[in-house]
Amino acid sequence: MTTVQTNVPPQRSTLANRDDMALASVLCAYTVTAAFWLLFATAVGVLMAYKFGAPDFASGQWLTFGRLRPIHTNATFYGWASVGLVGLAYYVAARSSRTRLYSPRLAWIGLVLFNLAAVAGTIALELGFNDGNLEYREWPWPIRLIFLAALIVTAWNLIGTVARRSTTDIYLSNWYTVGGVLWTCIIAVVAILPWYQYGLGQVSVSGFYMHNAVGMWFTPLALGIFYYALPKLLSRPIYSYALGVFAFWTNLVFYPIIGAHHFLFSPLPWFLQTIAIVFSVAMLVPVWGGSANFLLTMRGRMRGMAHSYPLSFIFVGVIGYLVGSTQGTFEAFRSLQEVWHFTNFTVGHSHLTMYGFVTFAIWGGIYALLPLATDKRPSPLGLTLHFWMALVGNFIYIISLSVGGTIQGLDWIRGLPFIQSVADMQSYWVWRGVGGSLMLVSHVVFGWNVWRMTYGVGARSSLDDPSPAKAVGT
Ligand code: HEM
Ligand code: HEM
Repeated sequence: MTTVQTNVPPQRSTLANRDDMALASVLCAYTVTAAFWLLFATAVGVLMAYKFGAPDFASGQWLTFGRLRPIHTNATFYGWASVGLVGLAYYVAARSSRTRLYSPRLAWIGLVLFNLAAVAGTIALELGFNDGNLEYREWPWPIRLIFLAALIVTAWNLIGTVARRSTTDIYLSNWYTVGGVLWTCIIAVVAILPWYQYGLGQVSVSGFYMHNAVGMWFTPLALGIFYYALPKLLSRPIYSYALGVFAFWTNLVFYPIIGAHHFLFSPLPWFLQTIAIVFSVAMLVPVWGGSANFLLTMRGRMRGMAHSYPLSFIFVGVIGYLVGSTQGTFEAFRSLQEVWHFTNFTVGHSHLTMYGFVTFAIWGGIYALLPLATDKRPSPLGLTLHFWMALVGNFIYIISLSVGGTIQGLDWIRGLPFIQSVADMQSYWVWRGVGGSLMLVSHVVFGWNVWRMTYGVGARSSLDDPSPAKAVGT
């Protein structure tokens, strides 16, 4: 990087252009399949949520909690979030580099591989084939190899696109997305190799994989979207390019080493746990630096959110990133782990980050960029219903589990019978089900919105688009 590029290069797409059409069809296909996985995985999530209150509901081997849980987590991670983010990363890479996609064919091959892995993984888990206690790696390893192949194809295609840019600099977004994909190829290989995966080695790799999946895959890709969509929506440069680069490198230095905070008080070496805690605190540097960069870019424009749902989705995503990650730092302290570990508080943290941050970021990116690619918009009613039901539902979900999880932990510390903590959680689980149901209905509306923006009949953007994005070009 030689000089500082402060703004997203302005550019306008025309559907008459063959390359634009190829890029638009790739983005459409990734978004539609990702939306399918979101709907499927969260329908499973709601079913699970109600099982906490009524364990005998929908019983039988096919619908046991043990099979449904990994189906939900893997389908949200690898079907929804991964596919949704990669589709957007392609669009951002090509547009910000003012070039065409290196290979639309490779993008389609990647899409088939991602979906093949998700379908095969889901069927395997439903049939009871599970790689055991390896969280987020429950798909049998040959299926994880298919996912790895999809990652490699994606990395190749993204790097190829950025390499043929017609701009002098690599735009900030591409630092994050290309960095994220490359790093994730490494983690996926480390996670598959069997030699050191037994005993404590396995625990250690598990922490490394789990935390890097969220921290070096979903996080950089979602931040890459923020760095592109925000300047576009606001029609102003990002507050500080240098701060963005600083946050990128500090993220890379601090994140990979904090996985052991998932296993505090375990037989893992004490020094390793302490290092993980110290670096969890250091993570405040990129998290606060990055969040400040986004919020300062938005300063003075908060009122604009009332007229732009894409901006509102992104704003929630930024707040989710800031609050969820800061919460994570506190969760890593031994004194607080004593209360919260093994409780539903952690599940609240997972949904604050993976939903309040990552999922809202993907939605913001899709609503900001997909209409520019296809020239079709969702209806204002669809946007309103989606945003508010998802936001309120997620809020209920997180608050109920955070409060309930704390009570659960305190019950255990006080040495009450385990069943007492189960009884104390009942109403909080019901509320989680209520919040989850609202979230699921919002996903149905999202599916409708995606249809209107892609293959269905949506309002033409060019006719009366009130979105500020329109003013900035592609
Ligand atoms: C830098 C900030 C962060 C720190 C220090 C942090 C810290 C933690 C800690 C200590 C736990 C373990 C809780 C326990 O087992 O008791 C945890 C769990 C988790 N975190 Fe974070 N977190 C951070 C950011 C994020 C982000 C940005 C995401 C998502 C994109 C995320 C997703 C998760 C998930 C899914 C779990 C549950 C893992 C499991 O299944 O056990 N975290 N985090
Ligand atoms: C309607 C929306 C959703 C509902 C009702 C829901 C429900 C659930 C339930 C009931 C669990 C099991 C918790 C437990 O074992 O105690 C769970 C776990 C999990 N879900 Fe969701 N979920 C939803 C959306 C999502 C989305 C969109 C994502 C990711 C993008 C996600 C990621 C996760 C993760 C990472 C876990 C494991 C949590 C942990 O171990 O800490 N969920 N979800």
